[in-house]
Amino acid sequence: MPLKTLKLGPKFNLLLALIFLAGFALSGLALSQVLQNRAQAEVADKAQMLIQSMSSVRDYTSTQIGPLLNPQLKTSPNFIPETIPAYSATEVFQNLRKSENYREFFYKEAAPNPTNLRDKADGFEASLVERFQGDPKLKELSGFRDLPGGRIFYTARPLAVTKESCLQCHSTPDVAPKSLIATYGPDNGFGWKLNEIIAAQIVSVPAEEVLGNSRRLLTLIMGIVLAVFLPLILVLNYLLRRSVIRPLRQMARTAEAVSMGQMDVDFEQKSQDEIGSLAGAFNRMKSSLQISMNLLNQRKGT
Ligand code: HEC
Repeated sequence: MPLKTLKLGPKFNLLLALIFLAGFALSGLALSQVLQNRAQAEVADKAQMLIQSMSSVRDYTSTQIGPLLNPQLKTSPNFIPETIPAYSATEVFQNLRKSENYREFFYKEAAPNPTNLRDKADGFEASLVERFQGDPKLKELSGFRDLPGGRIFYTARPLAVTKESCLQCHSTPDVAPKSLIATYGPDNGFGWKLNEIIAAQIVSVPAEEVLGNSRRLLTLIMGIVLAVFLPLILVLNYLLRRSVIRPLRQMARTAEAVSMGQMDVDFEQKSQDEIGSLAGAFNRMKSSLQISMNLLNQRKGT
């Protein structure tokens, strides 16, 4: 329907509705983007801090605990896993997970060929390791992953055989400490090469709650916008009807009557605004019309 054929009320309403809908949709879109980015930054921040902490635990173990216990490692009949960075980091994180707030967090040094089978990479983790192997410049990968327990955010860093000393336990079973073979067996975690990327250090942070919070915040804010602007539109509508449409309609009726020669009706001048002064002008026009008509009638009479 062409806009021209619409009456003032519907035209105004249509325009208002269009502006409101476009504004609502656009601001909703922008807001949802902002909130989502914020939620993502929040979980990424947590993951970053945790993975950095775990790297520190690894460093501590290899620089301070390892040298201390290394001599015992050769003689002890039982393997001492406390000397192993992977072990200490995994254990420290297990302790962290005992607290309520971190129960849903995970840490894993995922390797396709691990010494300890609890570190065995699943399909997704193996693909991360492959990507690190394919691009040695790649220092970190992160993103969302949907698990049966809900959506998580992961941050992964490559783990490489950086020192010759690693090969003492990870090259072939015959050079490894006897106690290591006794504990872990001769089948896993061997055959690694110097500088090879053999695992990915992965921290997983639950994202469901943070994302859910930002969705709830979006609904709340859009609800408030709706609650503010819908009444505003209704009030605007009422004002338009009262101060423009209704007086105009009345004026049209009066003008119609005057044009039929009914001179005893007046244009109602209720306000001082443009509509009011229009009514005033019409009244003056009607008076001069009446004077002219009277003059004309007098002439005819004489
Ligand atoms: C004294 C032997 C020994 C040395 C030296 C050693 N590792 Fe290990 N490594 C192990 C054992 C044993 C495990 C399994 C620990 C556990 O039970 O969590 C392990 C686990 C790992 C893991 C976790 C994945 C897996 O295999 O379970 C990575 C990654 C790893 N080592 C890398 C290294 C690197 C890199 C070095 C050299 C800087 C190194 N290791 C030196 C014995 C050793």
